[in-house]
Amino acid sequence: MSDFARRLSAWQRTHGRHGLPWQGGRDPYRIWLSEIMLQQTQVETVIPYYARFLARFPDIASLAAAPVEDVMALWSGLGYYARARNLHRAAQQVVERHGGRFPASAAEIAELPGIGRSTAAAIAAFSRDERVAILDGNVKRVLCRYFGIEGFPGEKAVENRLWALAESLLPEQEIGVYIQAQMDLGATVCTRGRPGCNRCPLAEDCSARQQGRQTELPVARPK
Ligand code: ADE
Repeated sequence: MSDFARRLSAWQRTHGRHGLPWQGGRDPYRIWLSEIMLQQTQVETVIPYYARFLARFPDIASLAAAPVEDVMALWSGLGYYARARNLHRAAQQVVERHGGRFPASAAEIAELPGIGRSTAAAIAAFSRDERVAILDGNVKRVLCRYFGIEGFPGEKAVENRLWALAESLLPEQEIGVYIQAQMDLGATVCTRGRPGCNRCPLAEDCSARQQGRQTELPVARPK
């Protein structure tokens, strides 16, 4: 296993976020819902919305059968309402095309409305230990700093390089711990402004830190 993965996973066990309502289970529906809510919303805000949503829609069949207005009402206040519309559409698609069973593989999950490659990978990793890489904004930041990647990560060529890098770093086992570690490190330590390098398990070998360039990487969108 890469040192990168080994250190991250060890860090997760002691310093990562544990015991959140969507952690520990294997139901892809519940994991999917949490990933969509967490895309643009902070953990503390998501928690009560997540509980209310699951109380009203405990499974994909109940969500698919509901009027879209009921779904939107439960989303009210969370923002980015396209997430809720896509959630509802995806639930209906699962019922119509997959017989009501959430598709298993990351590739199939990524076909559903509102689920990109990284979110599909997170769902498959958490629900069935599929060995797939994620690459969200947090992970891009960690990789660009650690490896000293100079390009703007929103650019296609740079993004492709980051995907390949993310895949090459995957551990053989306990993929869920590793994925959660990346998310939590990016959210709590390797933050955009003022990263907490003194608390970072990767600091020793981090290119940006060695060069004092934490705030310059990742490179900003070119003007
Ligand atoms: N952001 C997106 N998915 C997340 C997760 N599973 N945990 C924490 N933050 C996240």
